[in-house]
Amino acid sequence: FNRIEDLDIDGKRVLTRVDLNVPTENGAVTDTTRIDKIVPTIRAIQEAGGKPILLAHFDRPKGQRVEAMSLRQIVPALEAALGQKVIFAEEAIGGPAKRAVAGMEAGDIVLLENTRFYEGEEKNDPTFAASLAALAEVYVNDAFSASHRAHASTEGLARLLPSAAGKLMEAELKALNAALGEPQRPVVAVVGGAKVSTKIELLSNLIDKVDHLVIGGAMANTFLLAQGIGIGKSLAEPAMTETASQILADSTEAGCTIHLPVDIVVAKEFKAGAEAQTVPVDSCPEDAMILDAGPATVQAITDVFATCRTLIWNGPLGAFEIAPFDAATNAAAQEAARLTADGNLVSVAGGGDTVAALNKAGVADQFTFISTAGGAFLEWMEGKDLPGVAALTDARR
Ligand code: 3PG
Repeated sequence: FNRIEDLDIDGKRVLTRVDLNVPTENGAVTDTTRIDKIVPTIRAIQEAGGKPILLAHFDRPKGQRVEAMSLRQIVPALEAALGQKVIFAEEAIGGPAKRAVAGMEAGDIVLLENTRFYEGEEKNDPTFAASLAALAEVYVNDAFSASHRAHASTEGLARLLPSAAGKLMEAELKALNAALGEPQRPVVAVVGGAKVSTKIELLSNLIDKVDHLVIGGAMANTFLLAQGIGIGKSLAEPAMTETASQILADSTEAGCTIHLPVDIVVAKEFKAGAEAQTVPVDSCPEDAMILDAGPATVQAITDVFATCRTLIWNGPLGAFEIAPFDAATNAAAQEAARLTADGNLVSVAGGGDTVAALNKAGVADQFTFISTAGGAFLEWMEGKDLPGVAALTDARR
């Protein structure tokens, strides 16, 4: 793909796809990570003499104008991150958008209204994409986290205008390639979360690519069940045990070692202050549930980390939202951070809950790279081509 530096953007208007799908509460942004991360791209465009026109979606209005989902509410946080005024266009296409971009002077930044207010966005409708393209001379995609969607603003535009990847997009692709594309070996993947059913493709892809696969969270319970281990009242998917057995069998063939809990933290209730107990993995009481991995498991996991050069992490090891069931996630994450700081490990993490869990462990900024992506990170871990990224690569050709 092209980088911003590869295109001549001096004096040109640059449609810049960013991800402003940020969490809000009563119209105020509660986590500005995604906003902070696009600042270098906007600066790079300005420094090259270009005029950034930001376009993004917010939430899922499904082609309707829904005022509560207007990008107007993001403007104050965007202005604070950029340290400058942002001109808001009430529409993404048509008169208001044309007027806003026509009046741009050097240094100005325009933000267009939510692209998902228009049916053509998610349909990747050529007419809608052409209306967007008419606003600018160049297209930059800096929204890796939205690039698993083949929408007009992520895919269509790259086929209509000279296109480049933004700085965040570049950083994401570089980090992800270092983790799964051409990683330093051995590679360990940590996959947690509740369900095997939502992560079958991801697990199947990983066993072909990594040397060690650590399975945690409630999805580990389904694997335990598959091995005939009693799991009491634990969350699991009994219907998925055959799939779990197949994944275990395939992993052996693929030369990937799967690591499951050897000891577990159990409690009768999932609530703060619940009485927790650590027992061997085959000793879950019938009236209790597994809520975290135990210390012997953490030791085994961190021993694996110590032998590896690359770590890719998605999903917490336990029910990290409530202490003490965050202990295994915290301890393993802290050890990963330490090995990273010592220069022994390249550590990459992504996916909604993962970043929250690593933030809670206080180590998110000590990982080599934390992706801003949720769904896109998962699809990429599944080995899928992301349409927005593919369009950039094709544009280069
Ligand atoms: C995200 O928040 O992960 C991206 O912005 C994609 O949003 P979507 O799942 O609504 O397409």
